[in-house]
Amino acid sequence: MRATVLRALGSPENIAVEERPGLIPQPGEVVAQVLAAGVNYADLLMVMGRYQVKPPLPFVPGLEFCGIVTGVGAGVDRWRPGDRIMGAPLAGGCFAEQVAVPAQQIFRAPENLPDELGAQFVVAYGTAAFALKRAQLHAGETVLVGGAGGGVGVAVVDIAARLGARVIAAASSAEKLRVAQAHGAHHAVNYRTDALRPAIESLTGGGGVNVVLDTVGGRFFDDSLRCLARGGRMLVVGFASGILPRVPAEYLLLKNLSVLGIGFGGVLAADPAAVQATLDEALALHAARPFTPEIGGRFTLEEVPKALQRLADREVAGKQLVLPR
Ligand SMILES: NC(=O)c1ccc[n+]([C@@H]2O[C@H](COP(=O)([O-])OP(=O)(O)OC[C@H]3O[C@@H](n4cnc5c(N)ncnc54)[C@H](OP(=O)(O)O)[C@@H]3O)[C@@H](O)[C@H]2O)c1
Repeated sequence: MRATVLRALGSPENIAVEERPGLIPQPGEVVAQVLAAGVNYADLLMVMGRYQVKPPLPFVPGLEFCGIVTGVGAGVDRWRPGDRIMGAPLAGGCFAEQVAVPAQQIFRAPENLPDELGAQFVVAYGTAAFALKRAQLHAGETVLVGGAGGGVGVAVVDIAARLGARVIAAASSAEKLRVAQAHGAHHAVNYRTDALRPAIESLTGGGGVNVVLDTVGGRFFDDSLRCLARGGRMLVVGFASGILPRVPAEYLLLKNLSVLGIGFGGVLAADPAAVQATLDEALALHAARPFTPEIGGRFTLEEVPKALQRLADREVAGKQLVLPR
């Protein structure tokens, strides 16, 4: 089978396609044919050696996929060859024709979920649903989404709009904002050209937003914390800007704010039942009114370095996919 292989940490350019022996499922594992793999920001961090999980070199990158089970190892009774699944193996391996995954890290892909949505459902939609649930978002509240045109960002817009929230998308380009609005955002703020705080003040009549979802960190975190209404909730999902923010505790006290850390990867590792419950909630929203996958580009295995570089260069609106065949 063909797989992308990273032999030295540091850059997407270090990835090359290699011919490898077909995978044989080990006890507790499932082997699947990859139909589509989602490209996540975490893939880029892993390739650069800056992610919390550091597999030994050489390794096959790719943290999320939709595929078909082709073999099961000893002790696996829940899955059979032919099952259509989605999964997010914590050690990667999805930018390949085949992937081996611990059986508890995969989930059934229902028939109404196209491959290209299944390949981004666990991480993007799972994280979005998990975060908004932790915020106890309810209909009529206002949500500000940073990086709203990115993979997680679009999923958050999709879900928050279906939950009846008023959604303000914030992003760095007209194209990313157009995408967020196509997915249900009611307002758009370009934080590259406009100052965030006055824009939010004007959109909320000075009242502020109830929830901020931050995938960006840095300046967006600092500014958006000050856009929260009294009792507001800040959801810390990621730091794509590369700048880790610091929380000014006195400001939380003054406005009864909460800052919530969102680590869906940790839930994936520790509590598959909780992941399944979260995915079920997102799938119920999809069944009621289907999500349309926002595809920011389709790539072959040979083109994986290009896809990762586009993420690093902030060029992608929506989610890029790797299609191994
Ligand atoms: N906590 C969790 O469980 C969890 C789960 C999934 C993802 N994440 C994290 O969430 C973040 C988003 O992931 P994703 O896969 O949705 O990534 P993505 O599609 O690349 O989106 C990230 C967004 O961040 C913005 N950004 C700001 N500064 C950037 C910079 N210097 N370089 C690149 N992007 C920058 C970009 O939007 P603008 O250009 O519009 O600013 C981009 O669209 C990542 O930090 C990821 O690690 C966390």
